[in-house]
Amino acid sequence: MSGAKAVREDRLWQRHADMAKLGGTPKGGVNRQALSPEDAAARNLLASWAKARGFSLFTDAIGNLFVRREGSDPAALPVMSGSHMDSQPTGGRFDGMYGVLAAFEALEALEDAGLATRRPLIAVAWTNEEGSRFQPGAMGSAVFAGRNKLDDMLMVKDWKGVVLKEALAETLAAAPAPMRDGTPGFALDGYVEVHIEQGPRLENERKTIGVVTGIQGSRRYIVETLGEEAHAGTTPRAARKDAYLAATRIASAMYDATTDADDTLRFTIGRVDVLPGSPNTVPGKATFTIDMRHPSDAVLEIHEARLRALVAEKAPPCAGRIERVTAVPPTVFDPQVVDLVRAKASTLGLTNMDMPSGAGHDAMHVARLCPTGMIFVPCERGISHNESENATPSDLAAGTRVLIEVLVALANR
Ligand code: GLV
Ligand code: MN
Ligand code: MN
Repeated sequence: MSGAKAVREDRLWQRHADMAKLGGTPKGGVNRQALSPEDAAARNLLASWAKARGFSLFTDAIGNLFVRREGSDPAALPVMSGSHMDSQPTGGRFDGMYGVLAAFEALEALEDAGLATRRPLIAVAWTNEEGSRFQPGAMGSAVFAGRNKLDDMLMVKDWKGVVLKEALAETLAAAPAPMRDGTPGFALDGYVEVHIEQGPRLENERKTIGVVTGIQGSRRYIVETLGEEAHAGTTPRAARKDAYLAATRIASAMYDATTDADDTLRFTIGRVDVLPGSPNTVPGKATFTIDMRHPSDAVLEIHEARLRALVAEKAPPCAGRIERVTAVPPTVFDPQVVDLVRAKASTLGLTNMDMPSGAGHDAMHVARLCPTGMIFVPCERGISHNESENATPSDLAAGTRVLIEVLVALANR
């Protein structure tokens, strides 16, 4: 039996349903933020499935979780696939989880079919891809690939002031796995990640498989304005230093400055905090986040300079500052892996198209280490980062069939 034929759509769908219960929300989505008890529960469930199949399991110092199926040549470098199990606060059941479950299904299907590969295959669940609780996102893969320093990441705090190191220790205590020594990161022969598209193109074009050619560049910032707390009932306008008012001036100017004619630049303010957060006190401090993306790093650079100028211009009489939290340059995937994805999709008789990724993925960091590619499948109306996110069992299985064929080809090189 071929690997693709051994992929079981019913099992893959059931595994999604099982995982969706962990952090499940009344609206049918999930709230399973990084290093939360729900994240630990997902790790335990994956680990229990891995143990039942006799695969080995290990973690690393940033909490990435690896499931390994041995190859016939123990000295050969492994081929890896996976994604993330953490979610947005109001996230869907498929973002990230699909990539982990597809990779695991590939391992199980090979086991069922009794198919050996020369290289070992590893399914991975990367720590904190979403970056909604702890910034930056795609953290586990960034540390693995040497893009971010482990010690810096361990000191990052969430919005409530919880230090990542503590949350990670709690998670690993609740979901123990053998610890791999040393700094995260090891040599790989190849990496392939499957994911729902998170946009509408495949559905609109009636294609089942997206052959992902690369990922646009992204940058995140925090803007802070500092004013002066004052009585809301007595303080005349001229005497106020309203930090929120300054923040809205800056934000409004930024929206204007990032509106491009061809709608390529992505600019989002996704979180605003106003302090002290009292209805009858003029805010003394406001912060907001910026997520900005574009396929060209040069364009991002130009816009960053504009954002900085706007903070300086619009903050007074408050003080204003802007801090860059992350900058990930655009990724171009390995042409051989991209060709392989396209060829396998076509051989399986699946309609496909080449496309770049608008969303960020762990693959953008792993691509620094080894030949890397991605496979997309459609999601309903392109909706993602939303509890109503949806995908069909047959599309999820189709993406997994392409994945297994690509993995087998890479693992027998
Ligand atoms: C990942 O969720 C992203 O923000 O692109
Ligand atoms: Mn994702
Ligand atoms: Mn996401």
